[in-house]
Amino acid sequence: MAIHENRHGGGLPMRYMMAIMGSIGMAIIYGFKVNASVAIVAMVNHTAVKLLSNETVNSTTKSVPDGPFVWNEPLQGLIKASYFWGYLVSLIPAGRMSELLSAKWVMNASVLLNVIASLLSPVAAQMHYSLFIAMRFIQGLGGGVTFPAMHVMVSKWAPPSERSVLTSIIYAGTALGTVIALLLSGLLADHFGWVWIFYVEGSLCLIWCTAWWLMVEDSPEKQKWFITLEEKELIASSLNQSLHKSSHSASFPWRDVIKSTPFLAILVAHFCSNVGWYMMLIELPNYMNQILKFQLSENAGLSAMPFLCMWIFTMVLSKSLAVMQEKTWISVTVSRKIGTLFASAVPMLCLIGVSYVDHNRVMAVTFMTIGGTCIGGMYCGFLANHIDIAPNFAGTLVSITNFFATIPGLTIPIVVGKLTEGNSTSEAWRVIFFITVAFYLVEMLIYTMFGTGKEQPWNNVNSAEVHLEEASEQTVPLKEKNTNGKVVSYKN
Ligand SMILES: *[C@@H]1O[C@H](CO)[C@@H](O)[C@H](O)[C@H]1NC(C)=O
Ligand SMILES: *[C@@H]1O[C@H](CO)[C@@H](O)[C@H](O)[C@H]1NC(C)=O
Repeated sequence: MAIHENRHGGGLPMRYMMAIMGSIGMAIIYGFKVNASVAIVAMVNHTAVKLLSNETVNSTTKSVPDGPFVWNEPLQGLIKASYFWGYLVSLIPAGRMSELLSAKWVMNASVLLNVIASLLSPVAAQMHYSLFIAMRFIQGLGGGVTFPAMHVMVSKWAPPSERSVLTSIIYAGTALGTVIALLLSGLLADHFGWVWIFYVEGSLCLIWCTAWWLMVEDSPEKQKWFITLEEKELIASSLNQSLHKSSHSASFPWRDVIKSTPFLAILVAHFCSNVGWYMMLIELPNYMNQILKFQLSENAGLSAMPFLCMWIFTMVLSKSLAVMQEKTWISVTVSRKIGTLFASAVPMLCLIGVSYVDHNRVMAVTFMTIGGTCIGGMYCGFLANHIDIAPNFAGTLVSITNFFATIPGLTIPIVVGKLTEGNSTSEAWRVIFFITVAFYLVEMLIYTMFGTGKEQPWNNVNSAEVHLEEASEQTVPLKEKNTNGKVVSYKN
């Protein structure tokens, strides 16, 4: 009690500290997710790979120093894809695990798995490439649980009116983590050697694991430090009227969800959007190296640029749309569609641009930066939309759409590896870019036509059943539970 009183009047509310810590956690996970693409560039003996594929080696244009490993393009693609195999495997049970066990500990374990695998990566790579693939798989396992885990955290910590702001803070960390990982990995590889990418980043992230363990609890009720009584009461009273208990049990309305057009629109948008996201996240450093011949550190800095702009853009756009919604200038539906349009139409035009500038580095980087920036629109677009259409099942819905949206991450490196194997030309890359453009076109059309910010009937019908079951089992007062369906409706 005394500790609560200490913090009276001053400091950031605990729920925002939780969001910022969560944001850093997401940044770490996404940092580990992208650093392999930088590391591999420094790890591969490009001379030997080219000799093996009978390509002529032109030493005057070779800008990247050789590393120790002779890994050809398909193998590099396989290494990158192995992360997503792990990600897919853990994504399926992740929502349930976060709800039934503890979202805090799921998140903590996820980052710890990434740290350990990172520290073991250099040794693994030196022993055999399959062990390096295994490390990437383990990092993917950790990465998969983060979205559902943080979603459960938000559901317990955020008053309904602050959900989208806290969600934006947390998930925008993915962009920031990408920036830091690209810059730091590039610097470490250039000045100290590629092994230090894994050692330094792994060690730094141990600090987060400790801080998260000590600072953050699963819910405001369990939180002892850094929280005022007022804040506890504020969150408790706002959530009292909202569905707080897990309803993701056996009564998840599968039939309704599968038939729900607004949900399928989100699913399509999430899938198509990730095709574009993974192109920039994973293949951008490749393209810069192979076609534009950038130095590694220069390359990393310029690859990071779109993500830094994306982070700023996400914050500004989500706040602007929230203000416009408060003033009732636009509905939730319109604001989600504006966000999604930014995230699809603009990158689409930029990719068309990139594919026609050939070796003009400045133009290529400009297009990539503008496109990458606007991808951030998805955080206040379709990605926040799960909560609108079914607040009771938002966590499970995110698991489902994220599952399908991870397939591009799995297939793109392999497809790009095949298309560019011994044939890394502007033409080959133009084909790759236009495939991505087609996906953006689908996203734009489908989501604009079928997306909605309105709560769907199956959200309430099912939750009413759940409440009755829970009420009879746990003798929770019915009165309180029955109001849930109405009050839950997501205002923003
Ligand atoms: C890369 O491969 C070439 C050709 O096989 C070899 O001459 C060179 O020493 C290798 N470089 C490194 C750093 O292993
Ligand atoms: C290597 O590339 C440079 C510039 O692209 C060119 O001027 C040079 O003739 C090439 N050398 C060989 C051996 O192909």
